[in-house]
Amino acid sequence: MTSTVRPEGAHTPSVPEYPMPRATGCPFDPPPALKEEQEQGPLRKVRLWDGSTPWLATRYADQRTLLADPRISADVSRSGYPSPAPQRGSTFSFILMDDPEHARQRRMVTAPFTIRRVEAMRPAVQRIVDGLIDDMLGGPPHADLVQAFALPVPSLVICELLGVPYGDHDFFQRNSGVLISRVSAADDRAAALDNLIGYLDELMEDKIARPVDDLLSGLGTRVGAGELSRREAAEMGVLLLIAGHETTANMIALGTLALLEHPDQLDLLRDTDDPKAVAGAVEELLRYLNITHGGRRRVALEDIAIGGEVIRAGEGVIVPNDIGNRDPDVFADPDRLDLGRDARRHVAFGFGVHQCLGQPLARMELQVVYSTLYRRIPTLRLDARLDEVSFKHDGAVYGVHALPVAW
Ligand code: HEM
Repeated sequence: MTSTVRPEGAHTPSVPEYPMPRATGCPFDPPPALKEEQEQGPLRKVRLWDGSTPWLATRYADQRTLLADPRISADVSRSGYPSPAPQRGSTFSFILMDDPEHARQRRMVTAPFTIRRVEAMRPAVQRIVDGLIDDMLGGPPHADLVQAFALPVPSLVICELLGVPYGDHDFFQRNSGVLISRVSAADDRAAALDNLIGYLDELMEDKIARPVDDLLSGLGTRVGAGELSRREAAEMGVLLLIAGHETTANMIALGTLALLEHPDQLDLLRDTDDPKAVAGAVEELLRYLNITHGGRRRVALEDIAIGGEVIRAGEGVIVPNDIGNRDPDVFADPDRLDLGRDARRHVAFGFGVHQCLGQPLARMELQVVYSTLYRRIPTLRLDARLDEVSFKHDGAVYGVHALPVAW
């Protein structure tokens, strides 16, 4: 099959629609139909909202091979790119660019995310986490964990790192929520992105005039030196602000729910003093939950032979890392949450040149959260039935809208 674009309505029943629904009552597992595609073969075809039929790379090994292949592009503007939803207007910085421009821009912001710099932030993150838990314990013995804890932790951290006023969190959280939802109208998504770029652009103006010791001021210096336009700097700020809080917030809340539903695993985490065991638990939760469940999206620049098929130049490819992380050839008994396993090979942060820039920060934040929250509130429990919890099925990032907890 060589064509990736079909007229709408020209459906071939054998090509399943993507994304696929999760099974009712199994909020932590990838959709069963997706797992079936993995069993059927390494390279499958799926149908998207616009009728196009990109390839689906179902196996872990092929996923890593493809994501590391310079013959595939992350450039959303290329014909054949398998967009998750209609695209309009502004772009989304270097996550949707190819090298060399991708690498040039990414290099400008790598320094604050190195392990050494991130470790230096650990005491401050611990203070943030302890302060929010103090606030929870000082109030009534129940809360929405998303609003009281999961969203503020990474938002406060990324605001501090970038130099964005946390007081504006209602504004940026609301707009980023619209932006990353597949069900938002294209115009609303474009407006949300423009709002965020406008906001970051104003902040950049201030940072250029009065630079301080934060990431946006560093970008302002590069704008002054002619290395980056102000618009590019603002778009990069939007990418870092959104990636910095949406992802980790969902890992905190969904991870907590998964642990509450697996009390034996929660006990293991609560009872350990070993930082290595906590770090291992974070990797396993990243593997098991794989919150970036929309798949990595790419388009082939040249013909690529893989998995017994040839992906033709111009054809779209989706790399669903959620089933990559459940590949039985790589992870034994992959559907079991097992905090004791070595899950470090997971692809929850992607792979190749676009592999998550913020992963040292995300890991450190999750290690602090998971080693503190359940120890300080040992009686934490879900204050609703599991089937009453509302999940973000339509977002680029999976998680829960709210998590009612009590203690
Ligand atoms: C648990 C939390 C996180 C998860 C699961 C996650 C996941 C991912 C994934 C899968 C990608 C690859 C995208 C692709 O290949 O198309 C990515 C890229 C990226 N992430 Fe994260 N991320 C997390 C936290 C963060 C944080 C805290 C930041 C900090 C700002 C961040 C910044 C970025 C950036 C800038 C990219 C683009 C990298 C590039 O294109 O070179 N992420 N992330």
